[in-house]
Amino acid sequence: MPRHVAIIMDGNGRWARKRHLPRVAGHRKGVETVRGTIRAAIDRGIEYLTLFAFSSENWRRPQDEVSILMDLFLRALEQEVAKLHENGIRFRVVGDLARFDARIRELAAAGEQLTRGNERLTLTIAANYGGRWDIAQAARRYYQAHREALEPDAPLDPDALAPYLSMSYAPEPDLFIRTGGEERISNFLLWQLAYTELYFTDLLWPDFDGKALDDAIASYRARERRFGRTSEQVQHAAAR
Ligand code: IPE
Ligand code: IPE
Ligand code: MG
Repeated sequence: MPRHVAIIMDGNGRWARKRHLPRVAGHRKGVETVRGTIRAAIDRGIEYLTLFAFSSENWRRPQDEVSILMDLFLRALEQEVAKLHENGIRFRVVGDLARFDARIRELAAAGEQLTRGNERLTLTIAANYGGRWDIAQAARRYYQAHREALEPDAPLDPDALAPYLSMSYAPEPDLFIRTGGEERISNFLLWQLAYTELYFTDLLWPDFDGKALDDAIASYRARERRFGRTSEQVQHAAAR
């Protein structure tokens, strides 16, 4: 079973269009799918579930759609955080929250604080997140922490930078899923996906369900993760 599953929830707009509904109907349905996916992840013993809700590039959408997405996020924070806590879920938000309304920032911080001792599932919502932003902010924080002792010519060890990435509390994702048929990363977790198994499905996010999650997990389980080694090495290590 993958410990950490990271999902790009894509296809809400197309789901709505197919039904001659406004795009917002797809986003609303997408929130329901999030609830079902959290339940399905818990049932399967997944420890970390990370969902891409709003990318740093999504500000480029029409202003009214951005507002609707912000409103949905705000409502979800208001209505769902207590339920997450009741279910033993640890809640985290990653991304540059500075651009969000104060109310969203307060609710996100309060939700993280309330649920920080929970251990059943760590649910991370990536909001105004960009993989490039994450690496840049890690470099900045690394520099701030080491300013005094920094040798200008000293090599920067990637392992030394990793603790400053915004998801340093979680292992790197084992399985990445993107719904909606597009086969790209769209500036999601760039650093952390280096050795993640990638899975793409044409299902639109509102249609994603437990069966679809099981299909992704089955694909993951059929793969051999070599991390640069040979297949023989991996099989030898597994047999021991
Ligand atoms: C994903 O669905 C949700 C967000 C990016 C917020 P889209 O809104 O991208 O749906 P499509 O890709 O237009 O169908
Ligand atoms: C990626 O979806 C971001 C989220 C799902 C939050 P997009 O629909 O924004 O991605 P592109 O623009 O098609 O790459
Ligand atoms: Mg899309």
